[in-house]
Amino acid sequence: MSEHFAYPVGLRLSGRRVVVLGAGQVAQRRLPALIAAGADILLISPSATASVEAMAEAGEVRWERRRYRDGDFEGAWYVLITTDDPEANAAASAEAEARRIWCVRSDDAEAASAWTPATGRSEGVTVAVLTGEDPRRSAAVRDAVVEGLRDGTLAAPRHRARGPHVALVGGGPGDPDLITVRGRRLLAEADVVVADRLGPRDLLDELPPHVEVIDAAKIPYGRFMAQEAINNALIEHAKAGKSVVRLKGGDPFVFGRGMEEAEALAAAGIPCTVVPGISSSISVPGAAGIPVTHRGVAHEFTVVSGHVAPDDPSSLVDWAALARLRGTLVLLMAVEKIGAIAATLVAHGRAADTPVAVVQEGTTPGQRRVDATLATVGERAAAEGIRPPAVVVIGDVVALSSRDHG
Ligand SMILES: C[S@@+](CC[C@H](N)C(=O)[O-])C[C@H]1O[C@@H](n2cnc3c(N)ncnc32)[C@H](O)[C@@H]1O
Repeated sequence: MSEHFAYPVGLRLSGRRVVVLGAGQVAQRRLPALIAAGADILLISPSATASVEAMAEAGEVRWERRRYRDGDFEGAWYVLITTDDPEANAAASAEAEARRIWCVRSDDAEAASAWTPATGRSEGVTVAVLTGEDPRRSAAVRDAVVEGLRDGTLAAPRHRARGPHVALVGGGPGDPDLITVRGRRLLAEADVVVADRLGPRDLLDELPPHVEVIDAAKIPYGRFMAQEAINNALIEHAKAGKSVVRLKGGDPFVFGRGMEEAEALAAAGIPCTVVPGISSSISVPGAAGIPVTHRGVAHEFTVVSGHVAPDDPSSLVDWAALARLRGTLVLLMAVEKIGAIAATLVAHGRAADTPVAVVQEGTTPGQRRVDATLATVGERAAAEGIRPPAVVVIGDVVALSSRDHG
């Protein structure tokens, strides 16, 4: 290793010629960042990996199918030498040196005039790490920094005034690991978190003490509807200049009233970001070993709210039509009405022996699964003391998985 440290710099390559020699794995790894930088890339190589070929086909790089020739670096600002032909590499390196073009060599870091740092990006920050002779360590440091920025565990507050803002964050089904990286970062940056009972409550324990956590169910609502009171709380805290996260179970837009909150915020002129979450409708069956689709078994799955009884005039669900479907039915909020729903499906033609699984508190330590059929599920769920939150899965996919999850 040379005695001096490398001097880090950010090259602005947009529209500038970069020549890449070789189109194997190394080039394949480097090209996306050069493309993202808008470089005018000339790739010289007799052959290429399938991915590099695809980049050439997409017009992202100009590919000349041949070996290196002296003079190829004419007009270049930066070159990358990645072939496994030592002679060609040495000759190309000499040309770059003579032309005073910074040159990276994958075969011989010592002979190169520039090194590629391990890079990553998160939210407008580019992280570049050089360790000299230990690329794995560079990558590990890069990963740690980028991950930390992404999930908020690396405290790097923005010093840009953001103005009032609310993030509607889908927290996933309950396991704290099942929130998105973006959701977790926004949570870590929040001043105020308005949370539901459902979702990853454990994440709230990790929040620093200055963060105000508000239980959405406990907001006093006086003359307002409960939802209106939640909307007002979001608006109030955002207007007070706080960074507000509305943490919801699953996905904000799957029976989550997320749109009502987004509309209320829009009406109050407060910008809102929606961060999708892993919905319990897919993940809870999955956690119990049930795929909602399976080749040759179910070509569709339908997610239905079961909070209104089938014979209730306010029901928006066409149970007769659902009974005619062959695929998977996933019912949310259906614990109370499951007996009536199952009977309605059977009355409209779905086989009484269709397998059914009820999964309570999926993805949490309290997860349990009860198996039944449409004929027996009402009774079984009651006998087993199934309580919300639970997802009901109806269809042949249920029989694919072993039944001893209870
Ligand atoms: C108001 S809905 C909200 C759904 C949520 N937005 C989602 O995408 O998962 C609440 C229902 O979701 C289901 N649910 C949510 N989390 C669950 C979990 N961990 N286990 C079982 N069911 C769950 C239950 O059916 C519960 O009654």
